[in-house]
Amino acid sequence: MSERNNKRKRQRNKRFKEDPQILPSPSHSSKRSKLKEPSSFLDKMRARLSGGHFRMINEKLYTCTGEEALDYFQGEPSLFNLYHAGYKSQMSNWPEQPVNVIIKWLKKQSPSFVIADFGCVSILGEALIAKSVKNKVFSLDLVSNDPNVIACDMANSPLVSSSIDVAVFCLSLMGTNYQSYLEESYRVLKPGGYLLIAEVKSRFDPNNGGADPEKFSNAISELGFKSVKQDFSNKMFILFYFTKKEKQISKKKEIEWPMLKPCLYKRR
Ligand SMILES: C[S@@+](CC[C@H](N)C(=O)[O-])C[C@H]1O[C@@H](n2cnc3c(N)ncnc32)[C@H](O)[C@@H]1O
Repeated sequence: MSERNNKRKRQRNKRFKEDPQILPSPSHSSKRSKLKEPSSFLDKMRARLSGGHFRMINEKLYTCTGEEALDYFQGEPSLFNLYHAGYKSQMSNWPEQPVNVIIKWLKKQSPSFVIADFGCVSILGEALIAKSVKNKVFSLDLVSNDPNVIACDMANSPLVSSSIDVAVFCLSLMGTNYQSYLEESYRVLKPGGYLLIAEVKSRFDPNNGGADPEKFSNAISELGFKSVKQDFSNKMFILFYFTKKEKQISKKKEIEWPMLKPCLYKRR
């Protein structure tokens, strides 16, 4: 732009400040702001709608069984991607991702351990554990967008009995029948194998409708596991470590499973 044009623009802007009836220079043009406003408004509406949609799917997953969740996503697989886009935006505020803590732990174990990652689609990618360690990993989730992910309800996995060294549930005990996922892990784990569970801390706040972590741990012990460690050090999640007892429990008594409070997200 020439110096003359710049001068004219400066003069017009000066007058604009003094006289509102004088049209502003193009940089203040109403045409430009009109174009900008509707698109940012639409963006906000789109974000609000997808946020609402995410909260609806999330609530559904915490209030139905795994089998119902599988039917739900099989009927409309695009809802799975919508759920994960919303989940990613929620989780990106967390200072630490539990899956990374689990990966760190796994890297210290034998590379010959066979791992099952139950509910494997994370905010850092599909089958992240499989991509991060040298071990053989079976990655399972309700929908598979990756050839390495087995699509199934993890209450009924295709894994062979007593074939797994480490079973991981990272924030994935969502269904109302979560105990059947743990029973499935018991079936597929070798005696002595590890069970790692990371869950949202608020689900274990007995003063706020959450489960007592001790009752949760005791129920898992009654299933045939030994509690090895509980890690409460993280602000957002708890990590439970168990091993499968060497001796099989012959006759299982009725286990009292505490209800895990659904992890519902507020509108932001
Ligand atoms: C909250 S996300 C956590 C994902 C990941 N493990 C992470 O740490 O970010 C829970 C995942 O578990 C899966 N999931 C929940 N119930 C399941 C079921 N019954 N069978 C298989 N996957 C399930 C969901 O589809 C979702 O991808």
